[in-house]
Amino acid sequence: VMVEKQGFKHFMLKEIYEQPGVVRSCLESYLEINWTSQETSSSPYPIRLGLEESLLENLEQVQIVACGTSWHAGLVGKYLLEQVAQLPTQVHYASEFRYAPTPLMPHTLTIGVTQSGETADTLAALEMEKQRRNGVGEKFQARLLGITNRPESSLSRLVPNIIDTHAGIEIGVAATKTFVAQVIAFYLLALDLAHRRQTLSRDRLGVLIEGLRQLPAQIEQVLESQERYVEALAHEFVETHDFIYIGRGINFPIALEGALKLKEISYIHAEAYPAGEMKHGPIALLDAKVPVVAIAMPGTVFDKVLSNAQEARARDSQLIGVTPLDEEEARHTFDVVLPVPEVDELLSPILTTVPLQLLAYHIAALRGLDVDQPRNLAKSVTVE
Ligand code: G6P
Repeated sequence: VMVEKQGFKHFMLKEIYEQPGVVRSCLESYLEINWTSQETSSSPYPIRLGLEESLLENLEQVQIVACGTSWHAGLVGKYLLEQVAQLPTQVHYASEFRYAPTPLMPHTLTIGVTQSGETADTLAALEMEKQRRNGVGEKFQARLLGITNRPESSLSRLVPNIIDTHAGIEIGVAATKTFVAQVIAFYLLALDLAHRRQTLSRDRLGVLIEGLRQLPAQIEQVLESQERYVEALAHEFVETHDFIYIGRGINFPIALEGALKLKEISYIHAEAYPAGEMKHGPIALLDAKVPVVAIAMPGTVFDKVLSNAQEARARDSQLIGVTPLDEEEARHTFDVVLPVPEVDELLSPILTTVPLQLLAYHIAALRGLDVDQPRNLAKSVTVE
């Protein structure tokens, strides 16, 4: 199939711009909401994932297996499943889980997250889970769920229950829209489970669903306000050798994903840490040559991230903050602000991820690199 770049210089940039539409179609498929009215829904419970009922009943824990960017989506999923649905959740690299599976636990949901639906390690981890849970009693029975944008892939032949993220095919090797869509799938799953398990009040559930509905327009806002600006900023970092990304809580995985994007396409070394961990080692790396990108969104860890960022500033690092513009303390902390709208902290990863994609993209493009086909990487890795 010929897929056109539609005026974009690279598929990656085009796919970054597709994100508002992707989030919208994912929400439209699983949420009974009226997009034109102000009312969120006439039904108090608008989530319809279409999964077998037995899959989500009496769960005691969740385990997620994935690789690369999909593993980062799994980490956001863990935060949501634990904090919203009160379900203990573990996230495994599929390549590790295959050879060191956790002891069998009853009533466990195993989620495979894969954009291609073809990653060998992820499929093998799921296959192993299916085999080892076969014939060991009902409470240990395998309950498998796949999250993918390729419902026609090998994943669907292995796993009958699939959440199709509706991100469509992604051409750029570095995942962007498929990541955002996987995270949206986790919101829907966690909210559905929270409703079933009554771990959230109806009001809170309503607020979060309404918040989800606002996301497509808010992503558009981030794209419109930042595109040129991030491109200009990227000039400062064309020769940079190392970057540090920090975040906490639900935005720590976004720091990991931001660093991975930069590594994958610009070949600049980048590492991400939970901001509170800086003082236990990585702070030794900091000096004027190492910029620090901090995700600081109002909520449970906002002040903590700002004070961690100030510690970095004391080591002369240039500080780039992904933060709302109207937060005065944040504006004073950072040398450069990549502004995002202020939203419920739980929903913020969908917005904080966008400026980091743009930053990685523009640095790589300015370095003249093959953004869509980075060296040594493949879109799907079908061998071990
Ligand atoms: C490859 C890609 C990554 C991707 C990973 C997992 O390494 O280059 O971008 O995150 O595979 O792929 P999956 O299709 O399972 O999400």
